[in-house]
Amino acid sequence: GVKIVTIGGGSSYTPELMEGFINRYDELPIREIWLVDIEDGKEKLEIVGTMAQRMWDASGHDVKVHLTLDRREALKDADFVTTQFRVGLLNARIKDERIPFSYGMLGQETNGAGGIFKAFRTIPVILNIVEDMKELCPNAWLINFTNPSGMVTEAVMKYGQWDKVIGLCNVPVGAMLKEPATIGKELDDLTYKFAGLNHFHWHRVWDENGDEVTQDIIEAMYKDDVDAGIPANIHDMPFFKEQLVEMGMIPCGYHRYYYRQEEMLAHGIEEYNTIGTRGQQVKKTEEELFELYKDPNLNYKPEQLTKRGGAHYSDAACETIASIYANKNSHIVVTTKNNGAVPDLPADCAVEVSAMIGKTGAKAIAFGPLKPAEKGWLQVMKNMEHCVQEAAVTGDYGKALQAFILNPQIPSGQSAKNVLDELLIAHKKYLPQF
Ligand code: NAD
Ligand code: G6P
Ligand code: MN
Repeated sequence: GVKIVTIGGGSSYTPELMEGFINRYDELPIREIWLVDIEDGKEKLEIVGTMAQRMWDASGHDVKVHLTLDRREALKDADFVTTQFRVGLLNARIKDERIPFSYGMLGQETNGAGGIFKAFRTIPVILNIVEDMKELCPNAWLINFTNPSGMVTEAVMKYGQWDKVIGLCNVPVGAMLKEPATIGKELDDLTYKFAGLNHFHWHRVWDENGDEVTQDIIEAMYKDDVDAGIPANIHDMPFFKEQLVEMGMIPCGYHRYYYRQEEMLAHGIEEYNTIGTRGQQVKKTEEELFELYKDPNLNYKPEQLTKRGGAHYSDAACETIASIYANKNSHIVVTTKNNGAVPDLPADCAVEVSAMIGKTGAKAIAFGPLKPAEKGWLQVMKNMEHCVQEAAVTGDYGKALQAFILNPQIPSGQSAKNVLDELLIAHKKYLPQF
């Protein structure tokens, strides 16, 4: 039987993960699941962990869910380690959002100054986890969801020297779930090819005859009431149609922050001044969810969980694990080593691409070179990520400032430095490297 360890097990998303494993039990015979959390998450772990055990009991499979605050005890002889933790919990996220907004800059979980600080808090922790894995489960796969997922995954490869890692995101899953219907097709009729970075990828699509249908999907996106699978956390500001037609690719939901920067910033500031930032909104959803999880009769994933932006993440996580375990060679969009799939970026960096997943991990599918506009964005963003990772590891202030000044969501100048300084103070407790 398979041993799964989930770090950040107290997450409100955990029932979705359990559902994904239960649905795949026949191909992925799990023996035990260890949900790991920390003192600050103890209560959440207890509630959602008890609920997880109820889900397994109701499924009729004999799987034991262990709850622990002792990561090393859990990691011993693990086969797969999934990571879904949030250093500093939602309160830290809310600071990542509110502080940049207070300077008139985007405050967002994975983009701009907030995303950079989430990386600063998270990378040292993931590197500690990797050190534990080297000792306690040297053959295990690390399946990372912790945001910013692309940067965290690349840090594991580059600074942790750990190759058995795959980074995941639900955004490609959502697109493939909803888009086919916009052109009257089903997913099985279509071939998808993604490339770029996490929360910064594009994709193209072909039909059963091998004819490209990307432009048809772009056309369909501008009809009324079309659901193209944009995640719940992103304001649905339309892209400029002429830009997409020229591009010949479909950008991911997060590209709105770059292609409609003015409008997305204005919308974010409006919410910051009224109903509160996304983190503040999500805090309420989380409280509701944990009230539901306390019900001793609830033994399935409640509908309310779909209000979270990460809905369907388990389709990526559980399918990746099942594909490695059963050598399925299925197509999954993952963050993995580039190896030439995106020739505009170095071969040894991490990219988010279509890949075939089997026993040996991810085999990235070649996407080919990008046109000047996309190539320019991609190279800026990847090098910005490199600065962030280096600053996260070394605690070098100058490097952090370089990342800030390079990031397209942060105007250069004195206020870039001021917002950096304020975030360093606000998150001091979680930034021992600075
Ligand atoms: P959350 O605030 O509920 O945090 C999850 C758990 O992590 C908490 O119970 C917390 O106590 C625990 N934790 C914090 N520090 C820890 C540590 N050092 N070791 C172990 N556990 C620790 O967060 P959430 O909203 O459920 O999101 C979890 C993570 O997954 C976040 O990083 C989020 O950005 C990410 N996420 C990613 C995707 C994706 O597409 N990749 C989708 C959804 C969520
Ligand atoms: C999805 C992303 C995740 C992100 C999440 C935010 O868009 O793929 O990486 O963290 O949603 O959702 P939330 O409900 O926490 O705002
Ligand atoms: Mn994501």
